[in-house]
Amino acid sequence: MIIAPSLLASDFGRFASEATRIERANADWIHCDIMDGTFVPNISFGPAVVKAVDEVTNIPLDVHLMCCNPETLFAPFAKAGADILTIHVELGNKVQTLIWQIRGMGKKVGLAINPPTSIDLVKPFLNSIDLLLIMTVNPGFGGQSFIHECVPKIQQAAAWRKQLALEFHIEVDGGITDETGAECAQAGADVFVSGTALLCHRQLKPAVTRMRRIVNAAVGLQ
Ligand code: DX5
Ligand code: ZN
Repeated sequence: MIIAPSLLASDFGRFASEATRIERANADWIHCDIMDGTFVPNISFGPAVVKAVDEVTNIPLDVHLMCCNPETLFAPFAKAGADILTIHVELGNKVQTLIWQIRGMGKKVGLAINPPTSIDLVKPFLNSIDLLLIMTVNPGFGGQSFIHECVPKIQQAAAWRKQLALEFHIEVDGGITDETGAECAQAGADVFVSGTALLCHRQLKPAVTRMRRIVNAAVGLQ
C-alpha cells in the first residue's frame, strides 16, 4: 500500500522543508495538486515548486493535473521532476492522445475521474494507464469530506483490473483519513492521497505509519 501525502495541505511558505518533512516521515510518494483556475475554481502551484521539491527529495512525485489544457504543462512538469502525470477523463475526446503524449515522455500515466462522472468512461483506457485516480471529493480544495458514494467505483475498477489481468494502481484522493482509507482499501484501492488528515500532525511519521498499518490491515496484510 502506498501513502501519498498531498503538498496542497502543506505550509505554502515552506514547500521545500514540507517536502523534506514528508519524505522523512517515510511516505511513499508526494502528491502534487496542480490547479489551473478553470478546470477547478482554484489555483495552486506550478512546475517551479515541483522542481524545488524534486531537488530536496528522492521519492516519486505524483503530479495530478486538474487542468483544461494539460498538454501545455507536460514538458515543464516532466523537466521539473514529475514521475507520474495524471490527467482527467472529463477532458473527453483528447484523453487518448494525452495518454500517448505522457507515455512518449517516458513518464507514468495516470487517469483521474471526478465523483459525478460514470466509471464506464475510464474502461477503454485501462490497458494504457499505470494509475487510476478515483476522486473521493469534488476537486479544487483540500479539507473536504469524503463522498461515500464513490466507493462502488473503486470496487468496479478493482473488478475490471482482476478480470482484465491488469496491474494499474487504484488511487483515492479527497477526504482520506484512517477510517475512509480503510474503507477504500477494502474496496480495492492501493494508493492513498491524504492532505489535511496527515499534514495536520506535527509528528508526521507516526501518522503515516498508522495510516499504512490501517489500510494494510483492512485487506489482511501486515
Ligand atoms: C483535491 C485534491 C486533493 C487534496 C486532498 O482537489 O486533488 O489531492 O489535496 O486533500 P484532503 O486530503 O485534505 O481532502
Ligand atoms: Zn489530488
